[in-house]
Amino acid sequence: MIPGHVAIIMDGNGRWAKKKSLPRIFGHKQGVKTIKEIVKAANDIGVKVLSLYAFSTENWKRPQSEIKSLFSLIRQFIRKELRELNDLGVKLRILGDLSKFPENVKFEIKDACIITSQNTKFELNIALNYGARQEIIRAFEIMTKQGIKKLTEEVVSSFLYTCGQPDPDLLIRTSGELRVSNFLLWQIAYSEIYVTDKLWPDFTKDDLKIAIVAFQKRRRRFGGL
Ligand code: FPP
Repeated sequence: MIPGHVAIIMDGNGRWAKKKSLPRIFGHKQGVKTIKEIVKAANDIGVKVLSLYAFSTENWKRPQSEIKSLFSLIRQFIRKELRELNDLGVKLRILGDLSKFPENVKFEIKDACIITSQNTKFELNIALNYGARQEIIRAFEIMTKQGIKKLTEEVVSSFLYTCGQPDPDLLIRTSGELRVSNFLLWQIAYSEIYVTDKLWPDFTKDDLKIAIVAFQKRRRRFGGL
């Protein structure tokens, strides 16, 4: 079975650059190249939803210069890739709170979401200023405001950024760390976790296939026998 939803914690851009004695931004630039390759590969393989953790609520602690470079890379990515993503039938969704983002970045991102909103072949979720705990609190705030009394798992799911999408079947983390780092905590309740030592800029479509084969060998019991 091909996992319908794959979520990826893209880690190791900084280490990749350090290994090459380059500034960290070069690692992020290379990371964007990997994003392009993996989006296409996931789509070709038959994955339906791909969630990428690009900027966490904790990433604001990084130096201003790095944050600025990340914004600029995100903008460039959307500018350069929008047409191709649209042609591939990709629908873009942002997970997270864009309100703190610079106006020009926000505009570009929102525009891309509107342009691709009718696409149905593949959904690309990009997590930006995202934190799962914040996402869950936000969901409960909205439910409280709306006076929702009957809480079920389906109701809570429907107030998360991923509403309407299946939960991730597979969560991949690159560069070896054994943590989920506040990513999709509610949604990954039953996800299979695959960690590779490869740094994100070195992660290839073959590595994605290897992760999917490993996933296919797991027996998912969802708490049953
Ligand atoms: C992790 O590496 C990477 C990130 C926090 C940023 C990922 C973002 C991009 C690849 C840039 C643009 C995004 C899009 C959606 C086009 P790290 O810096 O934490 O690496 P380290 O742990 O080795 O320092």
